[in-house]
Amino acid sequence: MHSYSLAGGDRLPTLGLGTWKSAPGAVYAAVKQAIALGYRHIDCAPIYQNESEVGRAVAEAIASGQVSRGDLWLTSKLWNDAHAPDQIQPALEKTLADLRVDALDLFLIHWPVLFKPGVIFPRRAGDYIALDDLPISRTWQALEACVAKGLVRHIGVSNFSLGKLDDLCRHATIRPAMNQVELHPYLQQNALLDFCRQNNILVTAYSPLGSGDRPAGMKKRDEPSLLDNPVIGRVAAKHGITPAQTLLAWGLTRQTVVIPKSINPLRLKENLAAADLRLDPDDMAEIAALDLGYRFVDGAFFTGSGSPYTLASLWDA
Ligand code: A2P
Repeated sequence: MHSYSLAGGDRLPTLGLGTWKSAPGAVYAAVKQAIALGYRHIDCAPIYQNESEVGRAVAEAIASGQVSRGDLWLTSKLWNDAHAPDQIQPALEKTLADLRVDALDLFLIHWPVLFKPGVIFPRRAGDYIALDDLPISRTWQALEACVAKGLVRHIGVSNFSLGKLDDLCRHATIRPAMNQVELHPYLQQNALLDFCRQNNILVTAYSPLGSGDRPAGMKKRDEPSLLDNPVIGRVAAKHGITPAQTLLAWGLTRQTVVIPKSINPLRLKENLAAADLRLDPDDMAEIAALDLGYRFVDGAFFTGSGSPYTLASLWDA
């Protein structure tokens, strides 16, 4: 498995298993299968509501001698209701208990959006905390303390715009190791990628296949399909690979991490095989023209009536 290097000599496998939308009943088998196939990186989050099943599969794979803890890269995330400095370590410890490990490889601030403690999903104005009232820099300091305590090896962010990441870098003692964002040919985010390259921040592409299995409430009418795009289909046919593999190879050629989600044994295998694929400059030029600046996961669900967050403030657009 190819990997990218991080501070301290750690290596992050370039292709990981996404677990968002994997139902608790299915994710256990998917993680076990994935590890047996050769996946060594699993992307998790408490909001996916399946971390204890992921943890059971990981623990069994380790107990059986199939892999050691050191062979696996585990990422998880801080949910929006636990940004307050005194909430962070308890939230992290819950994730560690669910995943059945002593430390995470990478812990990310899931969104630059804050809720009151205990709010899983906001329903009313009073459920939110504005960023001005609890700045990300304070949350970050508490994450840095978790590194010092050995609870996490690396810390980073997710869904951060270039402006928010730049601001965080100015306040951070430990620079963020990662920004995990939605990335695919319809949302190429070149300026953000350039900024991350220049600042030695790795980037993970989430929804690399377009996350067609999002819940209905998170889907818009007439969404464009990535897997059925004719350009993607042509590049796939040229290389004798599938459209999904083409999308993953595109992300890997751009030197991002990709975390395709699947609970299907054949697709798990197909996606892992993409870890060794790269596209050529002609393919990349053709796919570059597909950029629409289109977000499948635009965060509109955090901008309901009374929310201090808007799409413009979220993405600094
Ligand atoms: P399934 O879990 O049944 O395989 P994303 O990673 O962008 O969130 O996309 C996940 C969606 O893509 C899921 O619906 C998943 O379904 C599907 N998927 C995963 N791998 C493939 C593949 N190789 N070809 C087609 N669809 C795939």
